[in-house]
Amino acid sequence: MDKFRIAGGRALAGEIPVSGAKNAALPVLAACLLTEEPVTLHRIPRVRDIRTMESLLQYTGAEVDAAADGTVRVHAAKITAPEAPYEVVKTMRASSLVLGPLVARTGRARVSLPGGCNIGDRPINLHLAGLERLGAVIHQDQGYIEAQAPGGLRGAVVHFDRITVTGTEDLMMAAVLARGETVLTNAAREPEVVDVANLLMKMGAKIEGAGTSTIKISGVERLSGTSHTIIPDRIEAGTFLIAAAMTRGDVLVTGCEPEHLTSLLVKMQQAGVDVGPEGTGALRVRVPGSLRSVDMKTEEHPGFATDLQAQFMALMTQASGISFITETIFENRFMHVPELLRMGANIRVEGRQAIVAGPVKLAGAPVMASDLRASASLVVAALAARGETVIDRVYHIDRGYEKIEEKLRHAGAQIERIA
Ligand code: EPZ
Repeated sequence: MDKFRIAGGRALAGEIPVSGAKNAALPVLAACLLTEEPVTLHRIPRVRDIRTMESLLQYTGAEVDAAADGTVRVHAAKITAPEAPYEVVKTMRASSLVLGPLVARTGRARVSLPGGCNIGDRPINLHLAGLERLGAVIHQDQGYIEAQAPGGLRGAVVHFDRITVTGTEDLMMAAVLARGETVLTNAAREPEVVDVANLLMKMGAKIEGAGTSTIKISGVERLSGTSHTIIPDRIEAGTFLIAAAMTRGDVLVTGCEPEHLTSLLVKMQQAGVDVGPEGTGALRVRVPGSLRSVDMKTEEHPGFATDLQAQFMALMTQASGISFITETIFENRFMHVPELLRMGANIRVEGRQAIVAGPVKLAGAPVMASDLRASASLVVAALAARGETVIDRVYHIDRGYEKIEEKLRHAGAQIERIA
């Protein structure tokens, strides 16, 4: 298992480029199953979860050609196995994103239930309830979901009991080939949802309201191939902004969309960080004085992203005062806390809230990555800590960050991967 060895205490400087968004690439790849024509995608990040999704598409019968430059061509001329087997889904729960496309294209799907992951039990009940509203018949058998819609899906009003990002994407992809009109209410507004809708519209889908809480889809007979460049990864960009602020650096994060990061930028500015757009598609970050503690609560977009909570908590260990951080999306997303405590942080967890007192001088230590974003918070903490940190199980980081050690080293970090 690979590890990262980081010698902290050096200010980051220079440019850090951002890759395509993993959480846009995953649903966009699944959407390619909706047409028998080829789809060419650009800026797909070469990370583990994407390779998992690509192999899942191949398993169903699609041809997938992935190039090192992030171009991926998917040609689902025929779907021979509308299935997502357990051995694939257990490594990546977002495999449930093929559920909607498979049912819409072939009239059936057999998808393994994802099972839990470290941050929560991650049910997909809202995906299934939505598909049933569109006329699918759902059975659960031996850990698999069997969905049947032999006569095809028909449009309906689907209200989400709670906002779900992949649930919204899954149902949007199911509805584009359904007969009649579908209305998704209480839909997710994440930029990744908008990116999927933009691809589907290029394929001929009729969608209104993507990015708002109400999405209207008028079903069409078939979709055609197209080409599409996905949006940059706002979570990766936010992670680098926080890393730069943690080390009191002066960094330009390039190839990003600043308007996808408004909540983070406002919180960082309130904390005393000088961060804002510079040129087009770039954000400049410096810390002129000392950092102040600010409270933060994660919420669905456009609120503060839960995927940046762990990284922001690391930043608050360097701020003067007390910061109350509340995680409202997932039930177990504080696994980075015990590891940060080993590095000298002063954090107390009470239920959904973490209370962070600062500033503290972090010291390097051997720590353990537990999930994708918790691992990212250990990296940014290690960059600011005095001395050496060794982070074990960095395969968690490899799920969602492309060449992170190269990008950070290019900005002056002393980080190396040890096998
Ligand atoms: C997406 O997960 C992201 N993954 C997650 O990023 C992100 O943390 C999450 O949205 C929230 O922003 C991808 O887009 C591939 P949800 P998703 O459905 O769609 C509950 C990362 O680090 N829920 O919006 O699975 C659920 O348990 C990953 O890149 C149900 O109860 O999240 C959670 O508490 C981690 N029933 C809440 O809703 C359902 O059917 C929000 O989950 C679906 C969800």
